[in-house]
Amino acid sequence: AIQRTFSIIKPDATKRNLTGAIAAKFEEAGLRIVASKRIQLSLAQAQEFYGVHSERPFFGELTEFMISEPIVVQVLEGEDAIAKNREVMGATNPADAADGTIRKEFALSIGENSVHGSDAPETAAEEIAFFFSGLELVG
Ligand code: CMP
Repeated sequence: AIQRTFSIIKPDATKRNLTGAIAAKFEEAGLRIVASKRIQLSLAQAQEFYGVHSERPFFGELTEFMISEPIVVQVLEGEDAIAKNREVMGATNPADAADGTIRKEFALSIGENSVHGSDAPETAAEEIAFFFSGLELVG
């Protein structure tokens, strides 16, 4: 079915001018970028977005990293968009990511891993609503 998923191009990637290269990977995979904006998160916003990880040992490192530079938040649409995006991203740890994936080609480490993508339909809906209003979603 046609789905929408939420994506973040993270600080390590925006800083290295990889926004376009990563967007091209999405488009080549058949994912349409139906919303996109470049923003810089406050610490409070990063902590809220990653609230599910608040008890993890890397929470401080993760949230500080996510506010260190601007990010690009996007909504991707396509057939099985959630799974397709996860395939294009590759494994969380670039050391485990398959050839041709974004994280294999661009990520620096498990933390500085260039992209975030929703893991399920419920989280996709929540994450899209966190960053975008209905008016910004132009199918
Ligand atoms: P993301 O999909 O954005 O969701 C949670 C993030 O936590 C994950 O990507 C990783 O970048 C990050 N993460 C997971 N494990 C670690 C770790 N051991 N150290 C630092 N960051 C981590």
